[in-house]
Amino acid sequence: MPDRTDRQTPTAAEALRHALAWQVEAGADEAIGEHPVDRRDREPQAVAQRQVPPARAPMQSQRENGPAPRSAPPPPPVRLESTGETVSAARESARSAQTLDALRDAVAGFDGCGLKKTAMNTVFADGAPAGRLMLIGEAPGAEEDRQGKPFVGASGQLLDKMLAAIGLSRTSDAYITNIVFWRPPGNREPSAAETAVCRPFLERHIELKKPDVLVFLGGPSAKTLLNRKEGITRLRGRWFQFRTPDMVEAGADPIPAMPLFHPAYLLRSPLNKREAWRDLLAIREKLDALAGERAS
Ligand code: URA
Repeated sequence: MPDRTDRQTPTAAEALRHALAWQVEAGADEAIGEHPVDRRDREPQAVAQRQVPPARAPMQSQRENGPAPRSAPPPPPVRLESTGETVSAARESARSAQTLDALRDAVAGFDGCGLKKTAMNTVFADGAPAGRLMLIGEAPGAEEDRQGKPFVGASGQLLDKMLAAIGLSRTSDAYITNIVFWRPPGNREPSAAETAVCRPFLERHIELKKPDVLVFLGGPSAKTLLNRKEGITRLRGRWFQFRTPDMVEAGADPIPAMPLFHPAYLLRSPLNKREAWRDLLAIREKLDALAGERAS
């Protein structure tokens, strides 16, 4: 008579398949680490002696899929040798760009942000360069990294619907970017150092784009650009006056800016769409009011 226990034991191949499925379920869907490793350089014995810590599973996307499981903490950000020097280099490079295309090239050629090492593509911007609205999100996710364009995944699709609800479209009215230009590994939040290094490019981006109205999508974007500590729940729906330090120096007019719930958050918490709808209407009204002022 066949042994019941034998029949229930999975084969090695099945066990491997189950282990893999479990990892994918937990968000470990990419074999990528924070630090690139040239394995051709390593002798097998040396690898064993160096006791390389086991590769950590990339965590589930916080922005797209809600908080990560406790068992999979985000990989730590790469520490830059000297953030101050790197920020100065970024500022110099950003200031020398006189057009959006030149700025795109400057960002793509900049190697001072550690995120670039693990990303597939630089994600600069998408949408209408002449659009009156500029939206700034947090960081590219997996799909954005693959395509090299911001907001093309699930939250991007919701963002397009939100714009359409107030009669705007990405192709003619809105220009979209993020506070960092490369995907953080495992979709963790960008660190303060990574954000600081990208900031001169982001500020120059706003100066060159000259939008009528700015929208900061989600807490990290709003807090970074407004230098505020409050969360998005307190910041959303309020108008702020935004100016970069160079705009202040040049005496340029401030740009009206409103923080809005991030579409990825709205996908997870649809009840908050009511507030988001109110904010979208306020953005539409502001655009109309500014157009009216200009016409009169
Ligand atoms: N979330 C963001 O903040 N930016 C993107 O580009 C995509 C998702």
